[in-house]
Amino acid sequence: MPGERLKNMNPRPRVLVVGFAGHQGKEYLPIVRESADIVGGVDPAPAAPSLADQWGFPHYDILGEALEKVDFDAAVVTVPHSEHFPVCAKLLTHGRHVIKEKPFAVTEQEARQLIHLAQRADRSVFTLLQRNFDPVFRFAQENLARIGEPYWFSYDYHFNLAHQSTGWRASKEQAMGGVLLDMGYHLIDVLSGMFPEPEPPRVHSAFVHHYEEMRDRRLEDLVSLMCRYPSTGLVGSLRISRHNYEKTEHLCVLGTEGALNIVPGVAVLHSTGGLPLERRTWEGPKTDTVRSMIAHHLGHLDDRYYRQDHIQRQLTVVRTIDGIYQDRSRERNELADRCA
Ligand SMILES: NC(=O)c1ccc[n+]([C@@H]2O[C@H](COP(=O)([O-])OP(=O)(O)OC[C@H]3O[C@@H](n4cnc5c(N)ncnc54)[C@H](O)[C@@H]3O)[C@@H](O)[C@H]2O)c1
Repeated sequence: MPGERLKNMNPRPRVLVVGFAGHQGKEYLPIVRESADIVGGVDPAPAAPSLADQWGFPHYDILGEALEKVDFDAAVVTVPHSEHFPVCAKLLTHGRHVIKEKPFAVTEQEARQLIHLAQRADRSVFTLLQRNFDPVFRFAQENLARIGEPYWFSYDYHFNLAHQSTGWRASKEQAMGGVLLDMGYHLIDVLSGMFPEPEPPRVHSAFVHHYEEMRDRRLEDLVSLMCRYPSTGLVGSLRISRHNYEKTEHLCVLGTEGALNIVPGVAVLHSTGGLPLERRTWEGPKTDTVRSMIAHHLGHLDDRYYRQDHIQRQLTVVRTIDGIYQDRSRERNELADRCA
């Protein structure tokens, strides 16, 4: 097709940025522009038109208008969780690639629908998860086999926000989940990459609330999970929270022949007994990781193998998280029945 030939002659994809006036959207603008032509932006926020002016691309209030007026290859989507599915489904239905913020989807049903739409349109849906492009996490992944058979992990990820969540994160309808969905998505994805299994792990969870309002809205401020992977017997625990006394991230994996310990900027491979065998440090700015992540996805839009692997892993992540929320909701209903 002549259009196809023309597209292939231009190595810079044409990108629509959806949700570009928000926190994450703004952070991505300069980085996306390094590897793509931003040909338009959609965001209903009052500040969006002047921001689009500043960056020199046309602004649209709604996606439908952009789809009518501008031609593009891919969209970078950074919208509140409740908007992910309708926006991405529409983009795929119109035959556009999607590079999106996490979560890939909130429910297994929506994840499967997106996959169906992507496959029908022969388009990619890539989720932006920066740890997969972080040299320290890559070191851990590449050296995992050196610790023998992993039998235990412990993963902590905490923010130290002094105030209750605000904006869409404080609304059940828009956030569609608390810290498990918002922060925990990254961790479950890291674990799905390290310990790939066709079925999600079995999980026991405790949901905890710092603020009464968040309890009332059923948006957890803290979650503690105990996971068991049935096919290998691997067991592990995660704790994720927004209002800890310090901001921290720490993953430790114990294996039959050693251990891996990862904190931001440093991964260490240990022998059994704790002797450090090899260390990988990385002090580069976060922007470097984000740059390689976005360039990688933009460079693989038409790579069907990469696309398939990515989708399968994201489906497992979504099934794990959705399964935990479903279990909680079942337990709540059973309790309500017993009390009635
Ligand atoms: N990877 C990370 O570390 C990280 C960090 C922060 C946020 N995020 C993710 O980024 C996404 C956005 O979060 P945020 O903190 O930037 O939120 P935000 O509220 O700052 O920005 C969202 C933007 O989307 C716009 N928007 C809402 N509905 C829209 C629609 N239908 N079409 C177009 N624009 C729409 C809003 O006007 C707003 O400008 C979420 O999925 C969140 O989980 C990821």
